[in-house]
Amino acid sequence: MAVSWSTANQRLDRAARLLNQTGPISVSGPLHAGVDLGTADVVLMVLDEFGEPVAAFLQWAEVVRDGVVVDFIGAIDIVRELLDQAQKRLGRSLTKAATSFPPGTDARLSTNILEGAGLEVSLVRDEPSCVASLLELDQAAVVDVGGGTTGTAVVQKGRVVFSDDEPSGGRHLSLAIAGHFGVSFAEAERRKRRPERYGIMELVTPTLQRISDIVAGHIQGRQVKKVILTGGTCCLPGIDRVFARELQIPVQLPSQPLLLTPLAIASLPLA
Ligand SMILES: Nc1ncnc2c1ncn2[C@@H]1O[C@H](COP(=O)(O)OP(=O)(O)OP(=O)(O)O)[C@@H](O)[C@H]1O
Ligand SMILES: [Mg+2]
Repeated sequence: MAVSWSTANQRLDRAARLLNQTGPISVSGPLHAGVDLGTADVVLMVLDEFGEPVAAFLQWAEVVRDGVVVDFIGAIDIVRELLDQAQKRLGRSLTKAATSFPPGTDARLSTNILEGAGLEVSLVRDEPSCVASLLELDQAAVVDVGGGTTGTAVVQKGRVVFSDDEPSGGRHLSLAIAGHFGVSFAEAERRKRRPERYGIMELVTPTLQRISDIVAGHIQGRQVKKVILTGGTCCLPGIDRVFARELQIPVQLPSQPLLLTPLAIASLPLA
């Protein structure tokens, strides 16, 4: 079942509060699990029968690069570990999960990993289609600014009718930050998460403008009345204003951009 923007944000905030919380809880009724395999991180989210998050585990990892799994065994190990944590928290076994893949890539990259981790794949859809289904989107674009890439997907009546991507994302912002301060990539990643302290927005705005110019090209000539931002890079405060200014289209920023796709994947069986 599709949810309103405010319900989605409440669920995202709830998922953020329980992120990596191992404390045991008891949940009755069916559970719905979803696995998001990203280039920067892997997330397992579990919802109760009403679609409310009850467990969420995230691990930073480099198992996928530009949509391609570079460490298949590593990815399976991470999914197993996240699954184990979720099962311990819930005191129940999870046998199936939904998953997704970036548009234009092979779904089997994701489904093979889930199966390798001993899970039955309940549903598999491309990432923006999951978001479109959760939010019942129409005449909209889902713009996913992730780690290595930025994906644009144009959605009409819940269906992705066009998608393209641009090979820049959060990594490129970190490289710009590392270059500016003369620090390592890891230190740049840390500073990026303290944007006010380090004047990060000022530093990365030119890169974000370049990314939104490319997104503008993807959207041009298509029926797009609003843009939904998703992906970890959209945690940067004020990123929605940069996109709104460049695109001249209303932009919606979810409360927890890093968790929107995982929530949408886990919600697939409830659609
Ligand atoms: N609080 C934050 N502030 C700014 N950037 C952040 C924050 N948290 C995560 N990121 C960035 O988000 C990116 C990861 O986002 P996400 O998890 O959406 O990517 P992914 O799905 O793994 O990658 P891709 O979409 O490229 O496949 C990384 O570049 C990371 O540095
Ligand atoms: Mg992603």
